[in-house]
Amino acid sequence: MFNASLIGNLHPAIVHLPIGILVLAGLLEWLMLFRRFRSGAPLIPLITAIGALTAILACITGLLLESSGEYDGDAVTRHKWSGLITALIASTYFVARRKGGLLGMFPNRARLGSLVMLASVSITGHWGGDLTHGSGFLWKGMYPTGKDGSESNGSTFRPVADVLQAKAYQDLVGQVMTTKCVSCHGPSKQKGGLRLDDQSQILNGGKNGIVITPGFAANSELLKRLLLPPEDEHHMPPKEKPQLSLQDRTLIEWWISKGADFNKTVKEIGIDDSTLSILRIYQGEQATASHTYEPLVPEENVPDADPALLEKLRTQGVVILPIDPAKGYLMANLINVSRPVDSILIDMQPLSDQLIWLKLSGSDLTDAGCKQISGFRRLIRLQVDQTRITDAGMAEFSKLISLERLNLAGDSITFQGLLHLKAMKSLSTLNIWNTRISNEDMPEVFSLLSSAKIDTGGYKLPFLDTDTMIMKDTRKK
Ligand code: HEC
Repeated sequence: MFNASLIGNLHPAIVHLPIGILVLAGLLEWLMLFRRFRSGAPLIPLITAIGALTAILACITGLLLESSGEYDGDAVTRHKWSGLITALIASTYFVARRKGGLLGMFPNRARLGSLVMLASVSITGHWGGDLTHGSGFLWKGMYPTGKDGSESNGSTFRPVADVLQAKAYQDLVGQVMTTKCVSCHGPSKQKGGLRLDDQSQILNGGKNGIVITPGFAANSELLKRLLLPPEDEHHMPPKEKPQLSLQDRTLIEWWISKGADFNKTVKEIGIDDSTLSILRIYQGEQATASHTYEPLVPEENVPDADPALLEKLRTQGVVILPIDPAKGYLMANLINVSRPVDSILIDMQPLSDQLIWLKLSGSDLTDAGCKQISGFRRLIRLQVDQTRITDAGMAEFSKLISLERLNLAGDSITFQGLLHLKAMKSLSTLNIWNTRISNEDMPEVFSLLSSAKIDTGGYKLPFLDTDTMIMKDTRKK
C-alpha cells in the first residue's frame, strides 16, 4: 500500500543528500583552480547529476510531507519553492556542465554557476531548518536563555509565586499556549497557518484571519474554538490531545476580554475575586498543567445543554464556559453582549439546569432581569455588581437557595433589599461595597447573614461586649 505520509516523513533525512552532494560538486569546481586537482574534472558532471537526482527526490518527499497536512503557512511555501528552484538549478547545471556543454568549456562561468547553485542550496536548507527548529534556529545557541530560544517540550507548566503579581501573558497565557497549543501552532508546525508562540504571531492570526479580538472574548476565534464541544472537528486542542482545564479557559477568556495585554501583570490589568480564585490554582508547588481547579459543583449530573442554543448565545457575545464537562455544568458571562441583558436572560432560561455561575457585572441588568435570574435555581455564584438593580429585584433572589457567592458592589440597594437574602443558608461570601447600605445598618447586616463573609469596603464592626456574633466570627475551627 502506498502511504504518502510515511514517505513524506523521509524528507528530513533525504534532504541531507543533495545538500552534501551539491556542496561537494561546487567545492570541486573551485578546486579546479589548482592544477593538481584538475584530473578530477570529469567527476563533476557525475556528482552534479547524483546531486540533482537526490534534490528531485527531496522535492517529491517534501511535497508528500506537505500534502499530509502537518505543515502549512508562508514558511512552508517559501521553502517549497526554493527547493523546487534548487532542483531546477542543479539539473540545469548538470546539463550545462556535461562534456561539450555550455559551462564545460568556460571554467570561470562554471565556477560562477556553482556559486548560484550553492546559494540556492543554502537558502533552501536554512528555510527548511526554520521549519523544524523554529525561526532563527541558527542563532539560538548564542543567547544563554533567550526567551525565543527556549525549546518547549510541551509538558511542564512553571507555577507562579503569586497570581496577582504574575505577568498575564508571559507567566500564564503564554505558558498555557506553550504546553497545549505550540506543538501544532509553533515553529515546527503551523496548523491552520497559525502560530501561538509569541505576541506578533498570535496577533497575526491564522489562514482565516485574526484569532483574537482584544476586549471581545466571545468574538475571538481562538476562544470560540476552545468552547466548541470536544467532538466538533474545529474544537481546540483536537480531542485526542491534552485539553485545557477550567482555569486555562477562564484565564484566556479573562485575558482577551481585558484587552489581551502582553506586558502587564494580572493586578495591573485588573481581575475580579471570583476569576482570581480560579486562577490561584496556577500558584504554588503542586500547580502543573494537569492540576486543575475543581470547583464545587452539585453531585448529580445534568443533561448537556442544547448546542444550537449555546451557539446562538455565543454569537450575541455571551461567553459560556463548561465548568465541569463531565457533569454538564456551565458558567456564563454577559459582560460583552450585544443587546440588553434582560432580554438575553429570557433566551437563556432553557439553561436553568446547567447554569451555576452567572456574571453580569457592569451590565444594563434591571429588576426585570432579576426575575429571569431567579429561574436559574441552581446558581452558586452570581455577580450583579455595578448594575441597575434595586431592592425590588433583590426580592427575586430569595429563590436562589443554593447561592454561595453574591456580588452586589456598586448597586443601588439598601438594607431592605438584603432582607430577601435571609433564606440563603448556603451564602458564604457577600460583597456590598459601595451600595446604599448605611454604616448604621451594618451591625444588623452582620447579624442577619451571620455565616457569610461580608465585604463592606472598609466598614469595621465596632466591638461590643454583648456581641456574640463577633465571637462566632473569630472562633478557631
Ligand atoms: C494536535 C494539533 C493541534 C493542537 C495541539 C492545537 N491545534 Fe489549533 N489547529 C489544528 C489544526 C489541524 C487546525 C486547522 C484545522 C481547523 O481549522 O480546525 C487548527 C486551527 C486552529 C485555529 C484556527 C486558525 C485559522 O485561522 O483557521 C485556531 C484559532 C486554533 N487552532 C487554536 C488553537 C489553540 C488556542 C490551541 C491550544 C489550546 C490549539 N489550537 C491546539 C491543530 C492543533
